[in-house]
Amino acid sequence: MTIPSIPTKGRTLDYAAPVYDLLEPLCLLNKQAAYDQTLIQALAPQPGDMILDLGCGTGLLCQKISALLDPAQGGCITGIDAAGAMIEAAREKRGAPNCRFEAMAAEQLAFEDGSFDAVISSLFYHHVPLELKQQSLHEAFRVLKPGGRLVIADMDKPTTLLGALVSHASRWLFMQPQIAENIRGVLPELMVEAGFLPPQRAAHFFGYISVFTTIKPA
Ligand SMILES: C[S@@+](CC[C@H](N)C(=O)[O-])C[C@H]1O[C@@H](n2cnc3c(N)ncnc32)[C@H](O)[C@@H]1O
Repeated sequence: MTIPSIPTKGRTLDYAAPVYDLLEPLCLLNKQAAYDQTLIQALAPQPGDMILDLGCGTGLLCQKISALLDPAQGGCITGIDAAGAMIEAAREKRGAPNCRFEAMAAEQLAFEDGSFDAVISSLFYHHVPLELKQQSLHEAFRVLKPGGRLVIADMDKPTTLLGALVSHASRWLFMQPQIAENIRGVLPELMVEAGFLPPQRAAHFFGYISVFTTIKPA
């Protein structure tokens, strides 16, 4: 069944779904396992957690997290992506009763307030313009329980010459002004604007990707 994509001003990756699992390890310079492990450590999933992944792509990170959850205790992860083809690929490769995937825009989540213990997102925020960065962070805040955790890994202010070269080249090569906002380092202030506590930078990869952790105040 073809899953329709959700209209959004974000840059969806329907066309990349068939090859995404081959391309991502290259983009992460063959460090995908270490990168995913760092994100999972920052998230610290508990067996009974309800977790949401924004811009989940083909769902590999969701699958790794789901292995740490206990369905008998209610543990479940839901990955959402606005690209129908990504959700199709994710369901086919990684769908399971405690690892679900839904076509949905991160700026308009169809979940009730306070539904999740934690929200995670990897390499999604440089795909959406500033207003959607803001809206999706407000949505993440809304759907988290008080005390809920937020982990975001994405392009940030570069800290090395190589990091600066890669970021600026990506911005112009992919004609993606949304990346320029990440390069300016807007994410931490937007998290605070949405109501989260000032984020910690838990890790930094390749001189331009930061892993931020914060919580929704209880
Ligand atoms: C670079 S991929 C990251 C995928 C995955 N999280 C990972 O780390 O490999 C960014 C994803 O964001 C999705 N996306 C773009 N705009 C979106 C939106 N407004 N809401 C939800 N997903 C969106 C794209 O379709 C794409 O799958």
